[in-house]
Amino acid sequence: MKVLIVNGPNLNLLGKREPTIYGDASFEDYFKSLQKKYPKIELTYYQSNIEGELIDKLHEVGFSYDGIVLNAAAYTHTSVGIADAVKAIETPVIEVHISNVYNREEFRHHSYISPNASGIIVGMGLKGYDLAVQSFT
Ligand code: DQA
Repeated sequence: MKVLIVNGPNLNLLGKREPTIYGDASFEDYFKSLQKKYPKIELTYYQSNIEGELIDKLHEVGFSYDGIVLNAAAYTHTSVGIADAVKAIETPVIEVHISNVYNREEFRHHSYISPNASGIIVGMGLKGYDLAVQSFT
């Protein structure tokens, strides 16, 4: 089984960025622990700060992988392009947000991704990625 985790803009700074909201663990360390926890899953990770690169990656894996865990970060609230890519591909996409976007600023309450996501996990911290991966098993 092949599952890809895709993180959008500024999530390369996890561990350093607003730790009271996003925690103090780097995603690279957390990802290693996930790979250990799910040895039978071919688990890979991609991060980009560039909208088009995220779309290209969804196209690349979206007809062959078994699952995608997508935290499009700020693009969640702005990107019709990423939303269209999620709709265009065949691989199911679980949308994850580390923070509870619904108790934050109003502009974070709307997601272009959600209507075409097969599931949504919000506000569970990094554990949300684990729950999303688990949902594909
Ligand atoms: C986020 C929430 C977004 O509103 C924000 O722009 C992010 C991270 C989250 O994981 O909580 O960068 O997607």
